Amino acid sequence: MKAKNCLIFGGSGQIGTHLIRKLAKNNYRVTVVTRNLHQKSYKIKTQANAGFIDIFEAKITDELKIRSLFENTDICINLVGILYEKKKGNTFKNIHSIFPSILAKLCKEYNIKQFIHLSALGINEAVDSNYAKSKLDGETNILKNFPLATILRPSIVYSVDDNFTTNLMSLLNNLPVFPLYYFGKTKFMPIHCSDLTDIIYHIISKNIHSSIFECVGPEKLSFKEIIEKLLKLMGKKRVLIPFPIFLANISAKLFELLPNPPLTQDQLRLLKYDNVNTKKYKTNNEIGVPSKKYFDDEVKKYCYMWRTGGQYSTEKYQTNKNV
Ligand SMILES: NC(=O)c1ccc[n+]([C@@H]2O[C@H](COP(=O)([O-])OP(=O)(O)OC[C@H]3O[C@@H](n4cnc5c(N)ncnc54)[C@H](OP(=O)(O)O)[C@@H]3O)[C@@H](O)[C@H]2O)c1
Repeated sequence: MKAKNCLIFGGSGQIGTHLIRKLAKNNYRVTVVTRNLHQKSYKIKTQANAGFIDIFEAKITDELKIRSLFENTDICINLVGILYEKKKGNTFKNIHSIFPSILAKLCKEYNIKQFIHLSALGINEAVDSNYAKSKLDGETNILKNFPLATILRPSIVYSVDDNFTTNLMSLLNNLPVFPLYYFGKTKFMPIHCSDLTDIIYHIISKNIHSSIFECVGPEKLSFKEIIEKLLKLMGKKRVLIPFPIFLANISAKLFELLPNPPLTQDQLRLLKYDNVNTKKYKTNNEIGVPSKKYFDDEVKKYCYMWRTGGQYSTEKYQTNKNV
């Protein structure tokens, strides 16, 4: 059977690199669009056999340039997203609302079989977050231009390549006390990146379209529980203090002056809302792809670099005293 061609935007990120491996292993050819070929090609090219991957450099705003890629595409996947806005057009509106709308329009024009777009869980509820609003507008624009699209709304996605558990462990390592916003009560259903890519693969291989799905992991954990689990896995103790929101807002405002802020005011507003399935849409469980991976088991595989002793703190070195 002729291999299908997948066109992936944002394929150099956490979800993208996992997805390229999954698709190429299953005989799909991928073309990955990146803003910076020199910086990202090594990361992208090493995800699968060279014959399965093409890389194309383009700005996502260059419609004329990306248009040419749609001629030989069967499936288009959009993984481009940002957590905070930067200068020079890197706004939530441009990246989460306008760009997906352009992709959907091109999918319609070129008769693409499937368009899969990564949105985010909880965006209907988080009415005062600009991130959530832009993701919601993006979904509306997509469905207007290409009603066949499949939209996935994942809870927080984690893996060894994430910006979530790894950043939290680095912060926990360096700070003697750790702030809990909203008393750490906000709930999440963290999903392992490979469980999420299994869902995307299922949607592609079963040719599922025209739906919104919420993608969740098997556990409901509060922010405080996540932090406590990470501390236990790291073998460290820290003082967790509930942080007044007015102080959190001031610190977030200051963080925003940094090139990569650990927290922004918009993220703080987003943190107010639980990030769990809403029952308004089907979840991955209901389409036959339940998440299999548990937070503790997975983070245990890579948390050792934040433990005292690094790799020598792992069970392998503890049982073999001669090494
Ligand atoms: N990770 C999570 O916990 C999570 C949760 C819910 C939803 N999502 C959504 O899932 C999608 C993929 O997430 P991810 O974790 O894989 O993201 P990621 O690791 O941050 O990667 C996103 C990709 O988007 C591209 N990109 C980033 N900033 C851009 C910009 N200003 N202009 C153009 N392209 C830009 C980058 O590709 P190049 O540098 O190669 O151009 C990058 O590889 C996103 O839409 C995200 O919002 C993620």
